[in-house]
Amino acid sequence: MTDLSQVLYIDLLKRSLINLIYDHLDQPIKLLDGRVISTFQARMEGLDWPSNAHTMIGWRRLTNVQNCVEAVLRDRIPGDLIETGVWRGGASILMRGILKAYSITDRTVWLADSFRGLPPPSPDDYPADEGSDLHTYAELAVSVQQVQANFQRYNLLDDQVRFLEGWFKDTLPTAPIKQLALLRLDGDLYESTMQALISLYPKVSLGGYIIVDDYGAVPACKQAIHDYIDSHQLKADIQLVDWTGAFWQKVD
Ligand SMILES: C[S@@+](CC[C@H](N)C(=O)[O-])C[C@H]1O[C@@H](n2cnc3c(N)ncnc32)[C@H](O)[C@@H]1O
Repeated sequence: MTDLSQVLYIDLLKRSLINLIYDHLDQPIKLLDGRVISTFQARMEGLDWPSNAHTMIGWRRLTNVQNCVEAVLRDRIPGDLIETGVWRGGASILMRGILKAYSITDRTVWLADSFRGLPPPSPDDYPADEGSDLHTYAELAVSVQQVQANFQRYNLLDDQVRFLEGWFKDTLPTAPIKQLALLRLDGDLYESTMQALISLYPKVSLGGYIIVDDYGAVPACKQAIHDYIDSHQLKADIQLVDWTGAFWQKVD
């Protein structure tokens, strides 16, 4: 049962993670597509790469993470929680904060990332990634030390947080993860999405959730999701979270 202090802690944690606290929220921001919007709208919808916030995913997708974590706790879906593609760590910090709020001590939050940005595209193996320049953005490279320091700011760095440092193709196939209740995919590329699904989807418990951050924003990511679902003939009732986020509950 949720009490008011749990609700208030998680709400304040989310506000802090997207920096609704210290940013000037009426400040205009110009997006890559030329649109000018307020900082508040950008943070609510996760439309920009914020200069200070600890996550870029915005309020609606953070709330989706919260809803999925609370659902697996409520429904006693066994397993750990993982994010593949963590950047400054904010969405994973929320996962750890929710476990703390509900006094859950038998689940781990895993963070998989190169901690040096995206790999260059490999169009011979993954043609859908051809032309991607995401690996050239220094802003997307955040070191593991910086992410750990971000966890420490919230007093949430402990042995229930584990880091898988390196390219997904090297770390995920042998990751010492037994079972997952939540798989959050945020690696942008077809390659990163597919590698995470191949290694980790079989470990997701029935009733667990798969969240896809870039389903709307990156066509190659959406293609990877559907290629995996189709090739495994899975039932996946994909629900949209906002302009880009999507998720489904594993039923087979
Ligand atoms: C868009 S950012 C993630 C945003 C983050 N989830 C948040 O809450 O703000 C993408 C991240 O994925 C990582 N990444 C993408 N592809 C990867 C791969 N194949 N191996 C390792 N890390 C990868 C990048 O280093 C980067 O940190």
